Amino acid sequence: MSGGVTVRVPAKVNVQLAVGAARPDGFHDLANVFLAVSLYDEVTVTPSDRFYLTCSGPYADQVPLDTTNLAARAAQALASRHGIDPAVHIHIAKDIPVAGGMAGGSADGAAALLACDALWSVGSSRTELLDICAELGSDVPFSLVGGAALGLGRGEKLTELEVGGTGFHWVFATADGGLSTPAVFREFDRLTPEAPTPEASPLLLEALRTGDAEALAASLVRSNDLQPAALSLRPSLTETLEAGVSAGALAGLVSGSGPTTAFLVADAGAAEKVAAALVASGTCRTARVATGPVVGARVI
Ligand code: C5P
Repeated sequence: MSGGVTVRVPAKVNVQLAVGAARPDGFHDLANVFLAVSLYDEVTVTPSDRFYLTCSGPYADQVPLDTTNLAARAAQALASRHGIDPAVHIHIAKDIPVAGGMAGGSADGAAALLACDALWSVGSSRTELLDICAELGSDVPFSLVGGAALGLGRGEKLTELEVGGTGFHWVFATADGGLSTPAVFREFDRLTPEAPTPEASPLLLEALRTGDAEALAASLVRSNDLQPAALSLRPSLTETLEAGVSAGALAGLVSGSGPTTAFLVADAGAAEKVAAALVASGTCRTARVATGPVVGARVI
């Protein structure tokens, strides 16, 4: 594609997702510990005579190609701020599970924003880009930043976190059919009438800082406050979690609002073994191995 700009952007897993009570604006205050992991979408923007989106990859049939797509909204938000005609073709090469709790839609928003900023030579500052990301959605700023970060507020107020060692090994089990994030938050409200103020776990932050997978695994137990709600809406995920842990994962949890489940494993060999066992168990659609943290959205 001549004259285009391509941005590669990672998925995320929430190693902690502490959720408070619903706010008057309908959002929930969070203490959200994000880790970017090595499953990637690539978003290419190319000058065109009209604005349109296309998508390829294993999940392409589930991706909306209208202005509900965060990539479209990102391009249009940047164009309207700068009086630019957003006549571009946006192509999403999608490899992040859709509606899976891995911020795939948010990733495409951050990637399209960065790609359009480069294509149109806007030269936005990091702060300007992060402001637009926060308007687009709670997880979009993290997709831009990557690495590991604590997100407060509705998840968009980020503090980058240091991660020791060489990174963590993960297996992600995808499920048939997505889960709606608003529906999972509503189920959380129903199950949790008096949610306490969300706080990051000091032990979990320390496990990240030292790069200690065993310590992180211990901190993952009940670290996702949305997990009971996701399991309530999709009880079969309990079997997936059991299958991953009995295959040797150090810990298993629902990724964000689900239905993807995430398994922390000791090393690359364990990741292959757990992924094969998950597929053989018949409790998931497919299993993917990944490592994290990895960098956020980057022009390639
Ligand atoms: O911010 P984003 O558009 O990704 O959020 C999607 C939905 O998830 C919101 O409409 C809301 O129902 C829910 N949500 C929430 N509290 C947050 C983030 C998301 O209730 N902090």
